[in-house]
Amino acid sequence: MKQVLNRLLDPLALMTSHWIGALGVFLTTTGGILWLFLLPTMLRGESANPYTGILTFLILPGVFFAGLALIPIGWWFARRSGAARRPDALRHFLIFLGVTTGANLLIGSQFTYRAVRHMESVQFCGQTCHTVMEPEFVAHQNSPHSRVSCTACHIGEGADWFVKSKLSGVRQVFAVVLNTYSKPIPTPVHNLRPARETCEQCHWPQKYGADRLRRIASFADDEANTRSDTVLLMHIGGGEGSSHGPGIHGAHLGDGVVIHYRTGDEKRLSIPYVEVEKNGAKEVYLASGAKREEAEKLPLRTMDCIDCHTRPSHTFELPERAVNTAMDRGAISPALPFVKKQAVELLKASYPNPAEAERQITGRLKDFYKEKYPAIAASKQTAIAQATQSLTGIWKRNVFPAMNVTWGAYPNQIGHTDFPGCFRCHDGEHASQAGNTIQQDCNACHQLLAMEEVKPKILSELGLEESGK
Ligand code: HEC
Ligand code: HEC
Ligand code: HEC
Ligand code: HEC
Ligand code: HEC
Repeated sequence: MKQVLNRLLDPLALMTSHWIGALGVFLTTTGGILWLFLLPTMLRGESANPYTGILTFLILPGVFFAGLALIPIGWWFARRSGAARRPDALRHFLIFLGVTTGANLLIGSQFTYRAVRHMESVQFCGQTCHTVMEPEFVAHQNSPHSRVSCTACHIGEGADWFVKSKLSGVRQVFAVVLNTYSKPIPTPVHNLRPARETCEQCHWPQKYGADRLRRIASFADDEANTRSDTVLLMHIGGGEGSSHGPGIHGAHLGDGVVIHYRTGDEKRLSIPYVEVEKNGAKEVYLASGAKREEAEKLPLRTMDCIDCHTRPSHTFELPERAVNTAMDRGAISPALPFVKKQAVELLKASYPNPAEAERQITGRLKDFYKEKYPAIAASKQTAIAQATQSLTGIWKRNVFPAMNVTWGAYPNQIGHTDFPGCFRCHDGEHASQAGNTIQQDCNACHQLLAMEEVKPKILSELGLEESGK
């Protein structure tokens, strides 16, 4: 009996006879056993707390594999020092190694599989480094892409980008641990995968074709919050059968068209050089005053989806626009006098944290009606309470003091009214040698059916007039 026990313990003795091997065995068993304890939480699905997630999926596997790597090193040292000269030690060790490696591989593969799965989840990307990613996470939850995983856009299909992203992920984890990351996280993302490889998994150019009607409500600063509407027919284009030539998508991304541009500006706001390749022919447009030789030294970028759709998923709003949208939906009642003006002022004021924002926004709006419109404060209590809730919600979706993210920190370049957007190139002043310009014609991109009109005729013709809230 004692002999059997000895034989079983022999390999262990050998492995642990040098301190490196001992450390290896210790780390491997500790990692493995602790991980087994956490197994039940994993079997219930993704663990609810991202920090247990990090422990289960990153730290414990790290400990486990580090231990595994140390064991053979320890064994090698032990052999050199003579412990292995006992006759059957080697054979016993090999058997032991076979069995333990089998078990380890089983556990290890589970680690890896789970770790990879976990790192793909929206929860891992958005919440692990809670404060850091909070603005993007919250905005993503409120976007048309809330059901699209972070990795679908940030990594996409294929092994090469997967590896690249994991490497840059490791760098980011260090930046967070060492607290060396920038606040806010800078935009645009310079090493983002070319968007056509990710976006076109779901949206392909033949799919967006028809013109699309856009109706934009806005409310004035007066007592009645007078409403007006802008109605645009967007020439989306790009697909088959679009009625206005190539349209917006076709002009930049259609068959045979490639647009490159050069900018020395981190934010890509000033664009001195634009180059269009259309069916083999090349035309270069320079901003007024730009020198070709100098512009040609700047880095070249190929235009893709995110040069216009800068905020497909992390769509932050501006105060005016957010209040207009909420009033249009009835979440803030336009029947409350001066509510537009008050709301925008309250949102623009600065508050140190969400709790304080909620307290002050709620308190100040209520006080305003109590002081200025006591009858309304009494008769429209529910509407006022609802307005304060909407406003607090808007603030919390867009302002994140811990990351220095405030109104306008992340520009949306899809239009030209809030940010330079299309007019970075379409300013009518980017000209080619042949005398062509990148045009600013008001009806090239959209037909302006109404511009800030009160009760525009076009809406009643289309049967879309306002219900009279
Ligand atoms: C629909 C595609 C899409 C999805 C889904 C998506 N992102 Fe993004 N994200 C982008 C694009 C595009 C940019 C870069 C915009 C630019 O470079 O101008 C970006 C930028 C970022 C940035 C840099 C800062 C900024 O706001 O520009 C962070 C951080 C980020 N995303 C995190 C996330 C996280 C976390 C998730 C999941 C909760 C996520 N993203 C989901 C498309 C997406
Ligand atoms: C995994 C699939 C998927 C990927 C990848 C994806 N999208 Fe989307 N996208 C969707 C879905 C689903 C919707 C919602 C459609 C709806 O609401 O009718 C959507 C909606 C949109 C809309 C319309 C939003 C609106 O206001 O109606 C735009 C614009 C858009 N995506 C652009 C992009 C861009 C740019 C990228 C790449 C950075 C991208 N998408 C990547 C699935 C995807
Ligand atoms: C030159 C700028 C530009 C580029 C480049 C661009 N888009 Fe768009 N896209 C727009 C504009 C403008 C709209 C209309 C927005 C609106 O009406 O609010 C739009 C609308 C869309 C829509 C909504 C279509 C609908 O019918 O509602 C989708 C989806 C979309 N784009 C996806 C993409 C994808 C994917 C790419 C890259 C392959 C891309 N876009 C490249 C400017 C662009
Ligand atoms: C990087 C520069 C750049 C940006 C930014 C840009 N465009 Fe363009 N756009 C061009 C160039 C260059 C052409 C001319 C292509 C050609 O010669 O056919 C063009 C052509 C067009 C056309 C076709 C006009 C015609 O003559 O029929 C439309 C429509 C258009 N753009 C819409 C937009 C919209 C909408 C945006 C913003 C969401 C935008 N563009 C942003 C460079 C840009
Ligand atoms: C290069 C393309 C392009 C040109 C040229 C252009 N626009 Fe626009 N315009 C857009 C896009 C894209 C939007 C955003 C639509 C959206 O919000 O979905 C927009 C939005 C608007 C809006 C609505 C603003 C709001 O409140 O949201 C108005 C008004 C407008 N344009 C007027 C004009 C006028 C006037 C001109 C002529 C000087 C013009 N546009 C030229 C592309 C263009």
